[in-house]
Amino acid sequence: MKTILTWYGHATLGLNVGEHKLLIDPFFTGNPVASMSADEAKADFILVTHGHGDHIGDTIDIAKRENALIISNFEIAEWLAAQGFQTHGQQLGGGFNHPFGYLKLTLALHGSALPDGSYGGNPAGLLLTTPNGKKIYMAGDTGLFGDMQLIGNESIDLAVIPIGDNYTMGPDDALTAVKLLRPKVVVPIHYNTWPLIEQDPHAWKARVETETNTKVVVLKPGESLELNE
Ligand code: NI
Ligand code: MN
Repeated sequence: MKTILTWYGHATLGLNVGEHKLLIDPFFTGNPVASMSADEAKADFILVTHGHGDHIGDTIDIAKRENALIISNFEIAEWLAAQGFQTHGQQLGGGFNHPFGYLKLTLALHGSALPDGSYGGNPAGLLLTTPNGKKIYMAGDTGLFGDMQLIGNESIDLAVIPIGDNYTMGPDDALTAVKLLRPKVVVPIHYNTWPLIEQDPHAWKARVETETNTKVVVLKPGESLELNE
């Protein structure tokens, strides 16, 4: 079973788990670094970490076209269900066995207001255990928190974390995050979308690989990474 992560720029991710196509935080329209348009996006499931516009993004249009199930926190799930979408709501610390694996929502230190000002519940990270036992942690938008140590105790194969600073962890705290998470591989995201979150991912890679045993994979928007079997 193949597991393939694609970064479409900013915090927009594709994750193919075997035959299942997942989109995470699908922000294409208005995303200056998006490697494709929302029209081209395919999804069986759309996972939304929090309510901000650069994460909920094109969820509505893509879910409508693709007839995708939207998975998010309970408040965002209810907000979308009221607009006629198929949703599955979870809450922080709660996991559920979906067809693509066991998905748990994790703590994220951030906000989650929806684009129309509605209350968007708590922002979340995503911890996925695939059917063949791979652990993938997608931190969402978050600052550094000590409980990343507990997430790290689960033996993370792949972590996807923000490094942009200003709205999320910057490079220094993201390096500390890697030390707590101890993943085999880490992919940095949520940087270089706008001048406010400009970072040098290669300088960060050099620091992480000097100070930890984790391998850093710097993707360009549109590039993919296949997890080893
Ligand atoms: Ni945000
Ligand atoms: Mn964001």
